[in-house]
Amino acid sequence: MNKQLRKAIIAGNWKMNKNRAEAELFINELKPIAADKNCEVVVCVPFTSLATAVEAVGGTNIKVGAQNVHFEASGAFTGEISVAMLKDIGAEYVIIGHSERRQYFGETDETVNKRTKAALAGGLIPIVCVGEHLWERQANITEEVVSRQIKLAFAGIDAADAAKIVIAYEPVWAIGTGLTASNEQAQEACKLIRDRLSGLYGKPVADSITIQYGGSMNAGNAAELLAKEDVDGGLIGGASLKAADFGTIIDAANN
Ligand code: 13P
Repeated sequence: MNKQLRKAIIAGNWKMNKNRAEAELFINELKPIAADKNCEVVVCVPFTSLATAVEAVGGTNIKVGAQNVHFEASGAFTGEISVAMLKDIGAEYVIIGHSERRQYFGETDETVNKRTKAALAGGLIPIVCVGEHLWERQANITEEVVSRQIKLAFAGIDAADAAKIVIAYEPVWAIGTGLTASNEQAQEACKLIRDRLSGLYGKPVADSITIQYGGSMNAGNAAELLAKEDVDGGLIGGASLKAADFGTIIDAANN
């Protein structure tokens, strides 16, 4: 099975939650749960908790990521954080193009592409988010929307770099709503993404890229979603805030 060719990655997206003390407490609880697991475990924490999280995961298999990054190297960009700054602090992953950033902070397919290129150039692993709104699904244009997002996110990126990117398929209607995509809907969209990647870079590259599902994934539904052929991991919001719940999802990916 091609699924074996890919690394399962379970990533928590804490969004705007947890201060430094809470981050440290969470990671200390997570350590024994994540130890000896085959899947990659990542926590994407607020900028203010990055240093604490990096220190807390020291000597473990848990990786730390940020939730956004600017595409310029430095300069007059008040409030922004560069790739080099994230590398300097010890982050290894960065979420790019989350729907909340697209919705509230003016993120576009063009800036997703720029951020992705900057992350790759600076040695951060991008987790690039794509996904349709409810009205787009209802209008039967999910395929068109997601294909366009993928094509533009990967524009100008060669195969060697493309292979380093992680994709998160997050249908916007499933985020924070308790509405999870059905296992079949998740599989269908992740397969569509892999087919598009295959068209861009060929099957071996497409088969090597980890595609996560995100949107109300939790301890109860993770195992079934992760069992699907093209669902290689999860990007988890709410359920990543409690170590026990996140641990159950990690266990599901490990099986
Ligand atoms: P929830 O798991 O809270 O639905 O959030 C998903 C998400 O946005 C992860 O990036």
